[in-house]
Amino acid sequence: MLCLRCAQRLLVGDGKVDFMAQLMETESMATGRTPEFFSGKELKIGIIGCGYVGLPLALRFADVSQQVTGFDLDKTKVEKLNAGSSYIQHISSERIREQVKRKRFRATTDFAKLRDMDAVLICVPTPLDERREPDLSYVKETAEAIAPHLQKGQLIVLESTTYPGTTDELVLPILEQGGLRCPLDSGSRGKEVKTDFYLAFSPEREDPGNKQYGLAQIPKVVGGINPPSGRAAANMYAQIVSKVVPVSSTRAAEMVKLLENIFRCVNIALVNELKLLSLRMGLDIWEVIDSAATKPFGFMPFYPGPGLGGHCIPVDPYYLSWKAREFDFAARFIELAGEINTEMPYHIVRSVGAALNDREKSVKGSKVLLLGVAYKKDVDDLRESPSLKMLELLTERGADVDYNDPYFRALHKMRHYDFSHKRSVDLTPEAIASYDCVLIATDHSSYDYELIVKNAKLVVDTRNATRRVKAGREKIVQC
Ligand SMILES: NC(=O)c1ccc[n+]([C@@H]2O[C@H](COP(=O)([O-])OP(=O)(O)OC[C@H]3O[C@@H](n4cnc5c(N)ncnc54)[C@H](O)[C@@H]3O)[C@@H](O)[C@H]2O)c1
Repeated sequence: MLCLRCAQRLLVGDGKVDFMAQLMETESMATGRTPEFFSGKELKIGIIGCGYVGLPLALRFADVSQQVTGFDLDKTKVEKLNAGSSYIQHISSERIREQVKRKRFRATTDFAKLRDMDAVLICVPTPLDERREPDLSYVKETAEAIAPHLQKGQLIVLESTTYPGTTDELVLPILEQGGLRCPLDSGSRGKEVKTDFYLAFSPEREDPGNKQYGLAQIPKVVGGINPPSGRAAANMYAQIVSKVVPVSSTRAAEMVKLLENIFRCVNIALVNELKLLSLRMGLDIWEVIDSAATKPFGFMPFYPGPGLGGHCIPVDPYYLSWKAREFDFAARFIELAGEINTEMPYHIVRSVGAALNDREKSVKGSKVLLLGVAYKKDVDDLRESPSLKMLELLTERGADVDYNDPYFRALHKMRHYDFSHKRSVDLTPEAIASYDCVLIATDHSSYDYELIVKNAKLVVDTRNATRRVKAGREKIVQC
């Protein structure tokens, strides 16, 4: 028997039924539907976690006429989204409002609605705990929230970054608790496997604020618990991205994302270390990198800075080094890169001390203005930002520290820091001139670097943001 909804999906362009597809559909009633079902329109797609990853993904599916429901524990976020209001700077309220109005997107805290979804995508956080070990509690809680509502033929995809093995070792057993099965099978892509539901991993490669590559332009890597799961997920994602890259397993897909982030983390550590050496040798590392980048092959520029920030690069590599221990394996590159990158904010604070010392001042009692608390330019995200570490270190050493950031009028209480009393200082010439040192931590494009250097007594520049400033260079210290 073919259900009415499935039959509707099997109608081809001229209204005739695609009998091949119908045959496959009828044959695989173990799942209730074939992987081809997920090529259809008006799929009901549930996205758990409406954050930096989940929200753009939800809107992208809504753009291609799917019916998207965002699930989140945060009631305030859900209310905001349903009112058509964004809480992420690079996602416009207008985009959300339009999809809410067209009834293609809504948000809810009611997880019972998961049972009505055709596909459920998990986009919840995967941070580190206090001992810098993987904290999979969000993923586990989410799998436990899905399990009682899991339906035959549903597709579940984990998108959160994690170590190889999470989907099959952690998520699969929880989902199977209700009796439905999704057998592990790494057979060839076309292999038929009887499965009650589909389960896959597909890493998110979102780069918030990147104007060149949005979700639609970035190829999506997909690996299934079994071949039909991989095909189901590939069919669904093919509707929203330019290219789907199938891999042989969920573990391979999990490892792809970690390789990408470890590649960045290690290369950033390398330039950070070479910067420290260049400073000692009296070389300008920026000139060296820019010149090396003229080589048309075999070199990719990475840039030094005050340390790693963001939700991914400072966190994800440790997921792999943690898992590696289970295999009696020490992931030395990851540990070494972590050591160098973690040291960077300390180096910057020492440089501020040395620059003040040269002007016969101590850190203690000096007024320091830190520019940019976001972890990178032009974003409203301060997770793991090295600026927060520098704020803490300078304050501990007795400096009187203020900050300016056009993306953060005020700071809130965070997991490791509480700067909730601090408000962004207006960048007037008088304000700039009132500080002993201006520390450029994040090189937002909106900053007027000429004005900053002109009015500051001393500028410590961690990003080479002042490279085009001509007047007042004697006040600039690169570090
Ligand atoms: N931010 C990025 O640029 C980026 C890029 C690629 C991959 N990732 C990965 O994507 C995942 C999500 O990251 P993010 O940046 O979107 O996080 P985020 O903190 O912006 O959003 C997570 C959302 O999940 C919600 N949430 C938490 N627990 C929940 C639960 N049990 N049920 C429902 N909702 C829950 C939170 O309220 C929040 O709205 C992480 O694994 C991250 O490593 C992030």
